[in-house]
Amino acid sequence: SNVSDFQPQSWQTSSNEALKISLIGKDVQAGAIQFPPTFTYPIFGDDETIYGYKDLVIHLVFDSITYKPFLNVKYSEKLNDAIDPQTDIIDKITPFLPANDYILRDELQWVDSFHSERESFNLMLLCEKIDEYKKEDKSYGIYRVPIGELIQKDKDSPLIKFWLRIQIFTLLYIEAATYLNLEDEPRWVIYLLFNEEDQTLIGFVTTYSYWDYQGHESFDNKATKLKFNEKISQFLIMPPYQELGHGSSLYQSLYSYWFKQDTVSCITVEDPNEQFDDLRDRNDLKILSSTGFFEELKKKCMDEQEVKFVSDEWIELKRQEYKFEKRQFNRLIEMILLIEKK
Ligand code: ACO
Repeated sequence: SNVSDFQPQSWQTSSNEALKISLIGKDVQAGAIQFPPTFTYPIFGDDETIYGYKDLVIHLVFDSITYKPFLNVKYSEKLNDAIDPQTDIIDKITPFLPANDYILRDELQWVDSFHSERESFNLMLLCEKIDEYKKEDKSYGIYRVPIGELIQKDKDSPLIKFWLRIQIFTLLYIEAATYLNLEDEPRWVIYLLFNEEDQTLIGFVTTYSYWDYQGHESFDNKATKLKFNEKISQFLIMPPYQELGHGSSLYQSLYSYWFKQDTVSCITVEDPNEQFDDLRDRNDLKILSSTGFFEELKKKCMDEQEVKFVSDEWIELKRQEYKFEKRQFNRLIEMILLIEKK
């Protein structure tokens, strides 16, 4: 043994670096795309550190169509008194994987398993398509899965099975994410974004709707239809497909899907991070620019070169028409006025 073996830090590894996430594409021969997780604290604790091994690599591999998980742990040396990786590492990860639906260590068994599953696998046939778009000659489709209702009706649905396989990506890439409690909350709806040609999953969104109470007068009037807010809870584009515009397309599709429904009164977002705020601002501005709202606002504010104040009533009316949240709509108006000043 050498001197460094006695230094505790030589036996510690960042769990963010040790864990390697890989995706195998449609063409298995082409190999895997590997990328790091952003967060591992939900699995390995707040220190995101693993003690007792050297050259530790934890492989968590999925095939990009069925998402059947494969898990393997490798290391060159283990401290004598370190706990066996079986119980130390594997037992920390498996509670986050679907019970009895992952393969440990045996890579051939895993390859066989997803190959045979692929033969009859087509989730797109099982759900409602709400939109589609093209990017560089490839077609993408957005599919709606009312997963909270589905789990009550058909626990064994392939869509449920698929969700239980992919949900770990929320923990790995969205800060403070937790697993959806589907059994207790039938209002959860997820949207899956697929490459239509090769069936690979590009991203997904979890959402739920909640009743928008508009005061007792409206409620007591039996003729008024109940209105709902739609909340985006977790929004994720799989790491290999980020920064290609998919997030924007997915967001725009969700917006127009909800915009068209007269029972939806407002579109909201739960704890957006900076990146999502940015995506939301860019796309909301695109929406408002395409409908002519920029000009409309300018006309309201400027009359023969004179700056006027826009009435709160008018802003509120427009906000309701576009179904934006109050705070977000005020931000958008400020941004538009800044853009128009230039
Ligand atoms: N070529 C190069 N760049 C492009 C292209 C293109 N064809 N198209 C868009 N971009 C740029 C955009 O201009 C933008 O750049 P900017 O950030 O400098 O303004 C950037 O790429 C991202 O835009 P999109 O591609 O539309 O967005 P993306 O598909 O990457 O999705 C998201 C963004 C959802 C944040 C994604 O990165 C992600 O999933 N991150 C990890 C999880 C996460 O943070 N989710 C949000 C948490 S908050 C919540 O869930 C409510």
